[in-house]
Amino acid sequence: MRFALKNLAVVAAAILVAPAAFADSHGGDAVAGEKVFKKCKACHMVGEGAKHRTGPDLNDVMGRVAGTAEGYKYGKHMIAAGEAGLVWDEALVADYVENPKKFLQEYLDDTAAKSKMSLKVKKEDDRMNVAAYVGTFSTPSVEEAEESEETEEETSSD
Ligand code: HEC
Repeated sequence: MRFALKNLAVVAAAILVAPAAFADSHGGDAVAGEKVFKKCKACHMVGEGAKHRTGPDLNDVMGRVAGTAEGYKYGKHMIAAGEAGLVWDEALVADYVENPKKFLQEYLDDTAAKSKMSLKVKKEDDRMNVAAYVGTFSTPSVEEAEESEETEEETSSD
C-alpha cells in the first residue's frame, strides 16, 4: 500500500512538472515566473493591450534590440547598449534584472552608465523564471523560431 502511494506521488509529480519543463528549454519555468512578474507589473505590462508605463511594454521583447520599443523614452545608456548590439533573449533578460545598472555598466564598459530601471531580482531561479514568463509574450519566441527551422530542415531533407 505504501509502495503504491509512493508511485502515485511520483506520477503526480511528473505530471505537475511536465508542462513547465515543456514551456522552456533554458531551465526557466514560465509558470513560476508569472508570480515573479508581479514585481515587474508595477512598471511593465505584457499581453493584449499592453502599453508603456514607467517601463516599456514587454511584449515581443525577446529578439528586440534593447531600447527600441516604439514610443517609449529610454535612458541614454539603454539606447547606447542597443546601438552597441544588445538584442534581448531570455538569458540576457535574466542577467539584466539581477542588477540593471551593473548590467549596462558591464555591457558598455562604462562605470558611469545608469539605468532607469531600479528593481533588482536577487534569486537566480526567480530571474530565470520571470525571463521565461516574459518570453511567452514574444512571438515567435526565439526558441520557437529555432524549432520551426529544424522542422523545416527535417521536412526538406525528406
Ligand atoms: C520600478 C519600475 C520597474 C520595475 C519594477 C521593473 N522595471 Fe524593467 N524597466 C523599467 C524601466 C524604467 C526600463 C527602461 C530602462 C532604461 O531606459 O534604462 C525598463 C526596462 C526593462 C527591459 C528592457 C526593455 C527594452 O525594451 O529594451 C526589460 C527586459 C525589463 N525592464 C524587464 C523587467 C522585468 C522582467 C522586471 C521584473 C522582474 C522589471 N523589468 C521590473 C522599470 C521597471
